[in-house]
Amino acid sequence: MKLKYIAPLRGELSVPGDKSISHRSIMFGALAQGRTEVSNFLTGADCLSTIACFRKMGIEIKQNGSDVTVSGKGLHGLSSPSGILDAGNSGTTVRLMSGILAGQRFDSCITGDESICRRPMKRVMQPLTEMGASIVSRQGNGCAPLEIRPAKLHGIRYQSPVASAQVKSCVLLAGLYADGKTSVTEPVVSRNHSELMLRYFGADLTAEGTTVTIAPEPVLTGQKIKVPGDISSAAYFIAAALLVPGSEVLLKNVGINPTRDGMLRVCQAMGADITLLNEDHSGAEPCADLLVRSSSLHGTVIEGEIIPTLIDELPILAVLAAFADGTTIIRDAAELKVKESDRIAVMTNNLTRIGCDVEATDDGMIIRGGKPLHGAVIDSQKDHRVAMSFAVAALACSGETEIRDSDCVTISYPGFYGDLRTLCR
Ligand code: S3P
Repeated sequence: MKLKYIAPLRGELSVPGDKSISHRSIMFGALAQGRTEVSNFLTGADCLSTIACFRKMGIEIKQNGSDVTVSGKGLHGLSSPSGILDAGNSGTTVRLMSGILAGQRFDSCITGDESICRRPMKRVMQPLTEMGASIVSRQGNGCAPLEIRPAKLHGIRYQSPVASAQVKSCVLLAGLYADGKTSVTEPVVSRNHSELMLRYFGADLTAEGTTVTIAPEPVLTGQKIKVPGDISSAAYFIAAALLVPGSEVLLKNVGINPTRDGMLRVCQAMGADITLLNEDHSGAEPCADLLVRSSSLHGTVIEGEIIPTLIDELPILAVLAAFADGTTIIRDAAELKVKESDRIAVMTNNLTRIGCDVEATDDGMIIRGGKPLHGAVIDSQKDHRVAMSFAVAALACSGETEIRDSDCVTISYPGFYGDLRTLCR
């Protein structure tokens, strides 16, 4: 894909549904009794992998575009899958499903693509094993494929070394099948979509500070779920509108859950003109329309407790920092190394290609911004968030930018390039 500046971004856009919430709507819908009706479901490849896995375990799921109906069979209604469960590129699918599979009365094996088979799974294997689960890495390298056998699960109090919603959710889901209460304490609170949605389905779950506790064997009941727009997808248009002079865009119905909205706070600290309109706090997941106008940005420090609230937005924030005046320091973000790609290495490498003065550190990046940057060939490493970040950078660079493996955006945003083009007219 080749991209270059055409015109300022103008107009309105509804970004697709939130990826984390879409995954959970299928998983929890499958474990609930009765129908779960999901609207604005994200039809990205990752969420379709989750649908395929549950269909393989006998759950009827009807999908008509972004409308999905799940015919749940209750906590013990899944059936033994006919073959290996394929999570594709989706870490959320492997890690959350490991927790569910650990509680089943059948053997299972879950794996995914090349990237998934390099990502660390010990972080879920360890607490599950502590609960009594039988889960092994087939290659013995702490990665997928994971083989899971039936076992009796015990409630534990797990102190997680990482702030990871995938780890937290995995343990809570296994906790549904345990013989007592299970709690997870994180160093910093990570996204809380599982907590909000499990409670909505009827789980007995409490959250206090950085600890979440769940009671086993609840009766979960099918629900109607309206998935808000994904702030992680909106992030690319927020950035593009901020960077391209003369832009003004209205992003409609974006999820602004406080465990996910760190990017908005950082952009505002960098001098961004972003206004929240029509805020709606009536449902479990708050949302708002975001009015974004081009702004001149300055560097900042991104560190500490805010990191989990913007972990997936750090690639696009690094792009913003490259165009902002002054230095931006990102620290406490070593988790970036174990995402779909090593995002510290891949972002540093590609930012250097467009002429940016950037340095990789052990847990982040130092970006000295504000120089004019130029188009280049970008190696996305098939990481959707890297590809989308440089599609935005391309609009603010001189000349043309070519993105290798640009179609990887289908993981989280199949219509991304089309939506970007529409706003640039
Ligand atoms: C996710 C949690 C985050 C995030 C990922 C989605 C989720 O990962 O990066 O894109 O849906 O729970 P970690 O739990 O590894 O931080």
